[in-house]
Amino acid sequence: MSKETFKRTIVVTGGAGFIGSHVVRLFVNKYPDYKIINLDKLTYAGNLANLKDIEDKPNYLFVKGDICDESLVNNLFAEHKVDGVIHLAAESHVDRSIKDPFLFAKTNVLGTLNLLQVAKEYWKDDFSNKLFYHVSTDEVYGALEFDDTLFTEETSYDPHSPYSASKAASDHFVRAYHDTYGLPYVISNCSNNYGPYQFPEKLIPLFIHNIRNKKPLPVYGKGENVRDWLYVVDHARAIDMIFHKGRIAETYNIGGFNEWTNIDLIKVIIKTVDKHLGRPEGSSDSLITYVTDRAGHDLRYAIDATKIKNELGWEPSLQFEEGIEKTVKWYLDNQEWLDNVTSGDYQRYYEEMYTDR
Ligand code: NAD
Ligand code: DAU
Repeated sequence: MSKETFKRTIVVTGGAGFIGSHVVRLFVNKYPDYKIINLDKLTYAGNLANLKDIEDKPNYLFVKGDICDESLVNNLFAEHKVDGVIHLAAESHVDRSIKDPFLFAKTNVLGTLNLLQVAKEYWKDDFSNKLFYHVSTDEVYGALEFDDTLFTEETSYDPHSPYSASKAASDHFVRAYHDTYGLPYVISNCSNNYGPYQFPEKLIPLFIHNIRNKKPLPVYGKGENVRDWLYVVDHARAIDMIFHKGRIAETYNIGGFNEWTNIDLIKVIIKTVDKHLGRPEGSSDSLITYVTDRAGHDLRYAIDATKIKNELGWEPSLQFEEGIEKTVKWYLDNQEWLDNVTSGDYQRYYEEMYTDR
């Protein structure tokens, strides 16, 4: 298909990362009449192996580049007549943000600002049928107590980590570009994702990897913090619905209605991995190692996803038990992927980062 015949041309930023790769896969397969351009810098978290199954599709293009690079983003818009952006590129790990907050400000705030500015300049004469979709996080809302309150779209922002502060700042810039220049946007704020292709610095893949290799499982603090877990494919489905049916200048919360304390979740992971490896279920509990808590560790996140359900009909499609089973099986079946991403530079960084744990 030549470029003129595509119905839409969408830049997905961060498409080689965890969630981005699921979004790219969904859009490339579901919309053969859209051109999907994956703009990714390929940091330690970006991996083209995540997209092997779709890399030869005629409606897919990979561009290696930095969202902070003004001329590169300008050229992309000019050459491809981009009419949509789904912006996922970010530094995404809270622990790294504590070590290097400036990198998070640069990528997450200035990178987003650069994309907004280019999109505004290219689209300003005719904003119709254009959309800047900004993918954000529930962490911008801060932390909940151990009660039954949930984050809604009206909850005030109260970020605590450099990561969540940078995401909150980028959300504010997106809204400011609408209010000041008329840029059409949607924002979604999602809870913790899990599933295939997540970089093994995050809790679930890290622990699957360590259980398999009989390495310590570093539980921060008492393991009592609560997260609301959603299977990544359901997040990608929600992004698809919001991109196509979401109202302009609206925010949608996405979550699993699926809260777990870390320690309870870890016990489920241990049992599932033990079962698959033929070990007595629960025997890897001995690997649990309580370590110094994360600085500023948010107690509890939990999303009220009523708005997206009522307006767009989205609900999680997968029960957690099924999702965790699929996830564990995927990591154990894809040991080569795990070995690749945990070798070399990353391994050195990891050792340095966790020497005090
Ligand atoms: P990830 O770390 O797995 O992937 C990030 C991707 O962005 C990588 O491919 C990386 O190479 C790319 N990238 C980083 N800096 C870049 C730059 N300057 N220019 C171009 N590309 C760059 O992240 P993820 O977990 O897939 O998260 C994706 C988005 O979703 C982020 O914006 C994150 O804040 C948000 N989010 C994540 C979760 C979650 O649970 N993982 C939940 C809610 C929201
Ligand atoms: O809520 C959405 C957010 O979820 C996203 O915006 C972030 O990009 C994503 O990384 C995730 O943030 P968390 O900090 O919640 O995820 P992480 O996997 O790092 O940690 C989950 C919980 O497990 C958290 O309470 C910290 C704890 N933890 C984490 C690691 C890596 C441990 O106890 N030990 C660990 O080794």
